[in-house]
This record gives sequence, C-alpha cells and structure tokens, in this order.
Amino acid sequence: MCDSKYVLVFTLVSAASFVSVYSAKFAPDFIHPCNNTEPACLIKATQDAIPQFSKGLPHLGVPPLDPFVIDELPIQLPGIKVTFYDGKATGLRKCQVLNVEAYLEKNIFNLDVRCNITIKGKYTAVGRLLLFPINGEGDSKIKILNSIIKLNINTKYFKDADGRDHFGIKNYKYTFDYGERIIYTINNLFKGNPELSNTVLQFLNENWRIVTEEFGQPVVDYAINVTVSTAKKFFDAVPYDELLYVPIPKY
Ligand SMILES: *[C@@H]1O[C@H](CO)[C@@H](O)[C@H](O)[C@H]1NC(C)=O
Ligand SMILES: *[C@@H]1O[C@H](CO)[C@@H](O)[C@H](O)[C@H]1NC(C)=O
Ligand SMILES: *[C@@H]1O[C@H](CO)[C@@H](O)[C@H](O)[C@H]1NC(C)=O
Repeated sequence: MCDSKYVLVFTLVSAASFVSVYSAKFAPDFIHPCNNTEPACLIKATQDAIPQFSKGLPHLGVPPLDPFVIDELPIQLPGIKVTFYDGKATGLRKCQVLNVEAYLEKNIFNLDVRCNITIKGKYTAVGRLLLFPINGEGDSKIKILNSIIKLNINTKYFKDADGRDHFGIKNYKYTFDYGERIIYTINNLFKGNPELSNTVLQFLNENWRIVTEEFGQPVVDYAINVTVSTAKKFFDAVPYDELLYVPIPKY
C-alpha cells in the first residue's frame, strides 16, 4: 500500500518534470541535432526534417511548403505579361538532400537539393511568346523533373527577448539547374482555338529549355524566397541550441 503510493507520487513527479522539460523545448521531435558540422550528419538531419517541416508547423508560425500556395504571381517579360494565380506548388517534401555545409565561424550555410516540383494553377497571358502572339486564359501545370537547387546562405546570430541565441538569415543567393525535363500542360493559350493552342503548347514543350529560361526565373525566385522566409520563421521560433549541439561562435 505504502509502496504503491510512493510509486504513484514518483510517477507524478517525473511526469510533471517531463512535461516541463517538454514544454520548454521548441524544436519538434523530427529535428535530430548534430553534434558536429560534418556534412554526413547535416545531410541526414536535413533529410530527416524535410518531410515534416514541409507540412508546416502552425504552433511555431511556420506555414506549409508542400503544398505552398501562390495567390498571385505576375510575371512581366519583354513582350508578354503572364499572371499566375490560385496556384499550388507540390513536391518539396520529397526533395533529396545532396549536400549540406555549415561554416559557423564564417556564417556560411550551403544546401544542395534535387527536387521534382509540380506547379498547378490558373493563368492569363497576353502578348508574345517567342514567335507567337498569345492571348490566353486557363489552367496550367508545370512539372519540373530532377531540378537541382544550390542555396548559399549568409547566416547571422541573434538573441531573442529571453536571451537565447538563434540562427538568422542575412541574405542568400542560389543557382537553379532546370534538370532533365520540364513538362508544360497549359490549356487555352489562344482563346477559342484549341488546335492552335495545342500546336503552340507542343512547341513550348519541344523547346522547354529556352521557354523556361525566358519565364522560369521569376517563378523560381518566388519559390526560393518563400522557402527562405519560411526557414527564417522557423529559426525565429526555435533556438540555436535545439538545432545544433555545437557551441555557437562568439558574435
Ligand atoms: C549526439 O551525441 C549524443 C550523445 O552521445 C547521441 O545520443 C546522439 O545520437 C548524437 N547525435 C547524432 C545526430 O549523432
Ligand atoms: C523525380 O521523378 C523521377 C521520375 O518519376 C524519379 O525517377 C526521380 O527519382 C525523382 N527525383 C526525386 C529527387 O525525387
Ligand atoms: C521576398 O519576400 C519578401 C516578403 O516575404 C518580400 O518583401 C521580398 O520583396 C521578396 N523578394 C523577392 C526577390 O521576391
């Protein structure tokens, strides 16, 4: 009797301490902090985190990246104005992490991933694309196969209101290799003329590389910007010492 009471109290006390430790922790369980900055560990930790991270972490103010919503993205190119709206991009949760490097003292963080991304939504396009006069409005889908994104981030460190250290993102640049293939599915490029629409769509797909160089850049800029600002929100919410078990450099 006495023993079991003791066990109960003990259980309650340890449960309480577990809860308090748990609630002081911001990092979700899918974050497996590395004990060093060896690429092998960073690659694995990043790969482990991507699927859950992409779903969004509403309690930390981190919106989902897969799918991510593109409300409206106007793209002004020489000769043609394309507006992409009610869009959704999917596929980021399956990105394959190729490399991760962190140079803490130098404030450098590099991430290379390979991704299949599908962007679906409505569009309007008015003007000229390559040789063709375009006046279209309809549905579009862009499928990007095995693109390689290399992101170079300049990091910084800062303290939050409670004095805890955080990673910050000062600025970034990236390169994007369109990968092996991009497939466009766009209907109604010429209002009311399905034959011409199909012919031009076929032409766009046969010349996907040139077409993408013309109008892919703003879409990719937008996507990377969303990704980086999402990462920023995560770093604002989760302190440095829950992400990496390596002493923070002096700053
Ligand atoms: C870091 O070290 C701890 C303690 O030795 C170990 O339990 C943990 O698995 C290590 N983390 C990684 C990602 O290797
Ligand atoms: C992308 O899709 C292709 C074809 O379905 C597949 O072979 C490839 O492994 C995928 N790549 C990634 C990074 O998921
Ligand atoms: C990136 O997004 C921020 C806000 O989320 C915006 O202020 C900025 O202009 C965007 N930059 C680019 C290059 O789109």
